[in-house]
Amino acid sequence: MSQQTPRLAIETAGLVKTFGETRAVDGVDLAVPTGTVYGVLGPNGAGKTTTVKMLATLLRPDGGEAHVFGHDVVREADEVRSRVSLTGQYASVDEDLTGLENLILLGRLLGHGKKPARERSAQLLEAFGLTEAAGKQVKNYSGGMRRRIDIAASILNTPDLLFLDEPTTGLDPRSRNQVWDIIRAVVSQGTTVLLTTQYLDEADQLASRIAVIDRGKVIAEGTKGELKSSVGAGSVHLRLRDPEQRAEASRVLALALEADVQLEPDPVALTARVGAGADNGRGAAEQAARALAELARGGIVVDNFSLGQPSLDEVFLALTGHDTRAHEEAADATKDGAAA
Ligand SMILES: Nc1ncnc2c1ncn2[C@@H]1O[C@H](COP(=O)(O)OP(=O)(O)OP(=O)(O)O)[C@@H](O)[C@H]1O
Ligand SMILES: [Mg+2]
Repeated sequence: MSQQTPRLAIETAGLVKTFGETRAVDGVDLAVPTGTVYGVLGPNGAGKTTTVKMLATLLRPDGGEAHVFGHDVVREADEVRSRVSLTGQYASVDEDLTGLENLILLGRLLGHGKKPARERSAQLLEAFGLTEAAGKQVKNYSGGMRRRIDIAASILNTPDLLFLDEPTTGLDPRSRNQVWDIIRAVVSQGTTVLLTTQYLDEADQLASRIAVIDRGKVIAEGTKGELKSSVGAGSVHLRLRDPEQRAEASRVLALALEADVQLEPDPVALTARVGAGADNGRGAAEQAARALAELARGGIVVDNFSLGQPSLDEVFLALTGHDTRAHEEAADATKDGAAA
């Protein structure tokens, strides 16, 4: 295929997949620009893996359309397959083989000669910091090493589009950072990445655009800035010295941040969302700093202060009015209702 690369790596319209009564993917429209990282953010059961599997031609859609680099995922599945690679949510390498053996084997299956397969494998192991572990059986790898060898295996042939399904779930912060660096390196080589994640900070770190999905539907889509201006750039958590000052502190904060302030069960603690309308993290930090100065001016003693990014729960609360757990309970209730 030597035709011009289309502007969109992925384009779907009304994509649907049902499993019995469950509409796992319920009319999803996506437009993923070529050459970028696109984040699909959603809680457990939102339909992320099902969407990815349809796009990677591993599952057949029940409705709607999907094109990958202009090719229909059903009618032109072979063309799609030749251009994509998938790192699944669960590891796909052989446990009993070493890291090096796994990569060489896959390289041979992809049609590389013996020497090129060995060279490419060694190069990837080096790039992923796995040279020392190259001779160890994969079953003895840590979680972080597993994810890295998995991603390495999926880019033996540099794909035009790489699906990464929750690449860092369950990893410690250091391993997460290593995987993030790998993803950045892959994109800098020209590969488009579709990344699913349950972590807003991960999507924020890597993705240029983000779709938030809930119960098989896209409930918000846009650039990081657009998403944050609807959700808020973060939340401020405060602990006061004196519980007597909490009512006054709450009043001052509400004014300074133009936001609702929540009183926590702990009698000295308050929480407020900041930066709704602010289009970057600095906006939120400035707002928070101003609020702190106001508190100090009012003689209110703050013992502890933090400004954090909104969690997935807070994103969902802002977008849907319920958190991700309430959503699961609601889904269960619907299921029970349907069954009754
Ligand atoms: N093969 C299947 N058979 C029946 N139901 C399925 C199947 N695969 C997925 N589902 C259901 O479809 C819905 C979406 O699942 P999916 O795995 O796509 O979610 P997800 O967003 O990837 O979740 P997670 O974050 O837990 O990986 C869930 O309700 C799930 O139980
Ligand atoms: Mg999944």
